[in-house]
Amino acid sequence: MTIPVFEEPTDFGDVKFAAALVLVTNACNLRCQHCFVYREETPNESRDKMSDGNMLYQLRRLRDKHDIRSMLFMGGEPMIKSALVFEAMQLFEQSAIVTNGTYGIPSLPGRLVTVSLDGPKELNDQIRGEGVFEKVKQAIYKHNLKDDTTVMLQMTVTKKNAGSMEQFVDEVEQWPVSGIAFTFYVPGKDEKSEFAWDDLMQRDDVISTLLQLKRRHPMIKSNAGALRMMFSDKALTATGAAGENCSLKRMLPLYVGEGGRFERTFCCYGNDVDCTRCGAYAVFNSAFKRDRGAGVHGA
Ligand SMILES: C[S@@+](CC[C@H](N)C(=O)[O-])C[C@H]1O[C@@H](n2cnc3c(N)ncnc32)[C@H](O)[C@@H]1O
Ligand code: SF4
Ligand code: SF4
Repeated sequence: MTIPVFEEPTDFGDVKFAAALVLVTNACNLRCQHCFVYREETPNESRDKMSDGNMLYQLRRLRDKHDIRSMLFMGGEPMIKSALVFEAMQLFEQSAIVTNGTYGIPSLPGRLVTVSLDGPKELNDQIRGEGVFEKVKQAIYKHNLKDDTTVMLQMTVTKKNAGSMEQFVDEVEQWPVSGIAFTFYVPGKDEKSEFAWDDLMQRDDVISTLLQLKRRHPMIKSNAGALRMMFSDKALTATGAAGENCSLKRMLPLYVGEGGRFERTFCCYGNDVDCTRCGAYAVFNSAFKRDRGAGVHGA
């Protein structure tokens, strides 16, 4: 019998990371038009060169070395490696998954499953691929409502789909999910495209519309204070011009790079990002909480 020999993970120094994110595979069955994973400067070539056993071993080693308590599983499409994900989730105190929903909704009692859709049916399918909206809808209706899995829908708002937020909410509001979340586009450096606003001021009206929408639709769970942090007069205090204020920089992003080894990218959104136009909701939510905490303690 051969005993598998597992490689030691890449050395990421001695810093502690309470939270990390792992792309369990660079493979995906979709090719969404706005996806940062497939940008040129982001490690995405190495397809499943790390065996499942090796990935589990390395995740355990990194958890112990960096005190990682919370892990976000994504990809590519993490459900392509569902057995690995379910096993690896047991390694962490907290774990969550972001999925495109086309492989069904996993039953993960006590955990969060975020399912991505990027607008009402027609526009979503332009961005995510023909037939995807209906497939995801069927999966959502089929999942076990009583198994204590928290299922959230998430729309990534871009210049292209911003005008359809209300129609999206109308279409999905009655679905059996715990809520609807919104995050905003993270463009690449110098990017000019149908997805990226040229500057933060151009995005302000969209944030105001979302705040109004939230008042009318309790299913929208995005925090109003966090959304207000995204306005152009405040956003850079949360991000910094080069990510220096960004809370996500304290999260360890694990991408599978050259030769099937873990690589750390500039941030969770890869290597090609423009922090001055970042729309990652988590960045603003934690800046909001940080400010509120500072207010409470008088700092
Ligand atoms: C990269 S995907 C990986 C997980 C899974 N394949 C999915 O689509 O949910 C994770 C999330 O990132 C979002 N996303 C992709 N490209 C983005 C970008 N450039 N800016 C902000 N969010 C983006 C997707 O819409 C999705 O909600
Ligand atoms: S499904 Fe997810 S990983 Fe795949 S292309 Fe779309 S956003 Fe990217
Ligand atoms: S792009 Fe956004 S998430 Fe990434 S480092 Fe910059 S501010 Fe942070």
